[in-house]
Amino acid sequence: MAIIASNFKTNHTRKSTASFVKEVSEFLQSNNISNEVIVFPTATSLDEFETVSNLTIGAQNAYAVDKGSFTGEIGTTQLDEFAIKTILIGHSERRHVLGESQEEIAKKYDFYKNKGYKIVYCIGEPLEVKESGLDKTLEYVYEQFEGIDTNYDNLILAYEPVWAIGTGVTATNEDITSVHSAIKLRIPKPLLYGGSVKVANVAEICALDGVDGALIGTASWIVEDFKQIIENTKDL
Ligand code: 13P
Repeated sequence: MAIIASNFKTNHTRKSTASFVKEVSEFLQSNNISNEVIVFPTATSLDEFETVSNLTIGAQNAYAVDKGSFTGEIGTTQLDEFAIKTILIGHSERRHVLGESQEEIAKKYDFYKNKGYKIVYCIGEPLEVKESGLDKTLEYVYEQFEGIDTNYDNLILAYEPVWAIGTGVTATNEDITSVHSAIKLRIPKPLLYGGSVKVANVAEICALDGVDGALIGTASWIVEDFKQIIENTKDL
């Protein structure tokens, strides 16, 4: 059973998120689809959604705090309001664009782990590392596990090569399987692939050895496409 996750990043409004979630939930229900589906809306669009049990709403980010004085951030008080118990940690945009260090990420991970959250933890190498070969790629990826308790029960990993995110350049099947099989040997947890996954390639990617599902940005933002992505992976 594939895990299909949509990362909205900085897209959709409160209103369009509500209709997206409703439509996906009804789609899962009326087609009896048992995929585990996770949607990560923007913080401003979190709400009390009524969904089928295999559709979960998660937070793209939150600070390692219940509440306090951290301008612009949210903590568990804000997540608890909507019973959010799933969080994305370590996304490359937070690492490379927003400048989160491995130390901060590990602290956040620990905090949300201790609260029992389901954590989707992202790793992935930039282009110059990929170009230095598989050994360097794995070395880089393993460093992103520094300070991370990978034995945590409620952990899902997502391998998202930075050069494949939002670029239209998907990793080749060989790229994906070589990194996934190496990670899986060290950390036997569900492992998603992310990076230019779309309607046309999601089934092939999710069927690869060592791939347990996909974490999708761009191609998941149009609800019809996201439903098609779920449809294409429902029997895996
Ligand atoms: P794209 O699907 O737009 O490449 O983004 C992938 C991603 O970063 C999901 O978290």
